[in-house]
Amino acid sequence: MGMILKRGNIPRTPHTEHYEIPGVLALEEIHGTCGFSGPHTRKLHLRSYPTQQCKPPQKEDFNLFLKAANDDILQPYHIFSSEIPYENDAVKGRKPLLFGASTIVSVSKPEKSMPDNVFFRNGEKYEIYFVQEGSGTLKTEYGNLKIEKNLYIVIPKGTTYQIELSSKNAYFLIFESSYPITFPPHYMNSAAQATLMAPVVETEIEAPEFQLPEDKKGEYSILVKHSGGCITRLTIDHHPFDLAGWEGAVYPFAFNIKDHHGIAREIHTAPPVHQTFQSGNVPYNGFSLCSFVSQMEGWHLKDIPAPYAHSNVDSDEVMFFANANYGAREGLIKEGSITFHPGSIPHSPHGNAANDSMKVRGKISNRLAVMLDTFFESLSITDLGYKYRDKEYPLSWYKASGK
Ligand SMILES: [Fe+2]
Repeated sequence: MGMILKRGNIPRTPHTEHYEIPGVLALEEIHGTCGFSGPHTRKLHLRSYPTQQCKPPQKEDFNLFLKAANDDILQPYHIFSSEIPYENDAVKGRKPLLFGASTIVSVSKPEKSMPDNVFFRNGEKYEIYFVQEGSGTLKTEYGNLKIEKNLYIVIPKGTTYQIELSSKNAYFLIFESSYPITFPPHYMNSAAQATLMAPVVETEIEAPEFQLPEDKKGEYSILVKHSGGCITRLTIDHHPFDLAGWEGAVYPFAFNIKDHHGIAREIHTAPPVHQTFQSGNVPYNGFSLCSFVSQMEGWHLKDIPAPYAHSNVDSDEVMFFANANYGAREGLIKEGSITFHPGSIPHSPHGNAANDSMKVRGKISNRLAVMLDTFFESLSITDLGYKYRDKEYPLSWYKASGK
C-alpha cells in the first residue's frame, strides 16, 4: 500500500552524482504530490531534463472540456455505454459522461494504439482505469503494465504514458480525481501494510515492469491535459522514457477487481465494505470506489439481500455494471450499463427485487460491478451521457412495481 519501489540504477543518496553514461551527469527529477509533503518518486534521466522543449507549446486540436447537458434536470440516469461507438485511440477517444468539481467519469473505447511518438500526461487529475474489454500495454516512464480485462490501473497525476492495444479494440472506464487515488487508509496498519481484515493484499498488486532507458533523439509529443480539459502539445527532442532508474511511492500500478476479496456477514452489509480505492479524504471529499464481486449473500434466516431504498444525501452514486447480474437491477440493466443516482433523491431496488433476492440468501452471487460514491460533490451529466440515456429510467421503479 505504502510500497516504496526501486527500479533501475539510482544513487543511494538523493541529490548526488550519478553517471549512467560515462562522463554524462544523469539529471534528477522529483514527481511529487501534496506540495513537497506527500508521496513522491525520485527519477533519474539519462542526459536531459524533461523541461527541454524544442518547439513552442501548441494548443491541440481536441479537448476534454466538461459541459453539462442543456436538458439535464434532477433525475436518476441509466446510460447504455455499450452503445457508444469505438473510436480513435485511448486518449483522443476519451469521452466524459459525468463530472463534478473534482471528479470525472469517462469512457474510452479505442480502436487503435496511440502513435509511437505521441504520449499523454494528465496534468490536472489522478486517474484510475477499469478495463472492461481489450488487452495491450500501458507504457510509462516507470515501466510497462499489462492491460487485461477486469484490471484497475491507477495512474498518478503527471505520469507520462502511452497505450498500445494488442486487441482489435478496447473499452476503458476512466475515473479522474483532483486528489490522489489510494487504497483506503483504514485497510492499513501502522506500518502502512494491509491489515489481515482488509479485502486487498499487497502481493496481488502489479507494479510496472521496468524497461531499459530509451536514449533516442527525435521529436516526441506529450499531450498534457490541464485547466479543465485543455490539451497542450509539448514537444521535446528526446524520448520521454529515458529513466536510468527511479525510487519512490508514486508510480502506476494495476489491481484485478477479482482480487478484491469480499467480506460478507449474515445480514446485508452497506457498500463501504466493498471499497477498494478512494481519492481524497473520504468521507469528507473525493470519492470511494467499490468493487461488487462474487460473494456470499447474507445467510441470516430472514435476510433480504437487496433490502433498502436509500437517500445517501452527501453522495452522488455512479455504478458501472461489468455484467448484467445485479440483483437490485436485474432485467433492467445490460452489460456496460451505468447508473447515476444523485444524492438529492432516493433510489431503491426495482420491482420485486427485494422479494426475489431472498431466493439467493446464503448463495454466491455472480455480479461484477464498480461503484463510485462522491462525498459532498454533485455530478452533472454531459451531452454524450444524456444522448445514451435510458429515457424510461426515471419512472422505471413505478413501472416495475406493477401499479
Ligand atoms: Fe445505491
